[in-house]
Amino acid sequence: MRMRRKKNLEERLASFDNIILIPRVTDDHRSIVAEKEYIDFSELFGNSNPVHMEIGCGKGQFMFELAKRTPDINYIAVEVNESVISDACKKAKEAGITNVIFMKCGAEILSKYIKPASIGKLYLNFSCPLPKKANENRRLTNVRFLEIYKEFLTPDAEIHQKTDNMHFFEYSIEQYTLAGFKLKNISLDLHNSNFEGNIVTEYERKFSSAGMPIYRLEAYMQPNT
Ligand SMILES: C[S@@+](CC[C@H](N)C(=O)[O-])C[C@H]1O[C@@H](n2cnc3c(N)ncnc32)[C@H](O)[C@@H]1O
Repeated sequence: MRMRRKKNLEERLASFDNIILIPRVTDDHRSIVAEKEYIDFSELFGNSNPVHMEIGCGKGQFMFELAKRTPDINYIAVEVNESVISDACKKAKEAGITNVIFMKCGAEILSKYIKPASIGKLYLNFSCPLPKKANENRRLTNVRFLEIYKEFLTPDAEIHQKTDNMHFFEYSIEQYTLAGFKLKNISLDLHNSNFEGNIVTEYERKFSSAGMPIYRLEAYMQPNT
């Protein structure tokens, strides 16, 4: 039964051929990542617009709204869960969205495929907080991931993070600082702040309607004026 479900999922993913990249390599072995197979974004999107990324896009609600609002930006939406990304692809196909390409893989291997200094903005929305100490190095704001992102972010790039989890937010601030990022536009209660243009994600809706404050920050490497 389980095998059959998997087979159907694989068939479903294959049917989204033109909007999803499925790297053959799905582990994070250093030597595998060291052999680069950079994606040609101009070829992929058919234009040379700037490219932004979301890691852990879930079912893609945030990405679709952002892509609609900013048609002159191309987006790479990364998600490790094949069932979730399959739903996102289906929605993108039905909505006729052309400036989003999905990548089904873990963030661990991105630097194998993403050229250095090629991503201008990175969104981390409600990344799993993974509270157990044993899982610390799987948190998407762990310094090991921040070092991976630094490889492909442009020098003036920003990371925009949102979470409902105060401890994870504090942890992330610590990790950005360790990795040499600076922070700005920090909000401890986004929905009761003067921030404009927020796009609510699936998890954000859930947490917010349960009365939880939403934390948000922007991290960057260079002083921007
Ligand atoms: C809590 S959900 C948030 C989904 C969405 N961003 C939102 O705000 O509604 C976190 C997502 O990150 C994905 N994820 C976790 N670790 C990942 C990794 N190493 N690489 C890519 N995606 C990952 C999970 O599969 C999950 O879909």
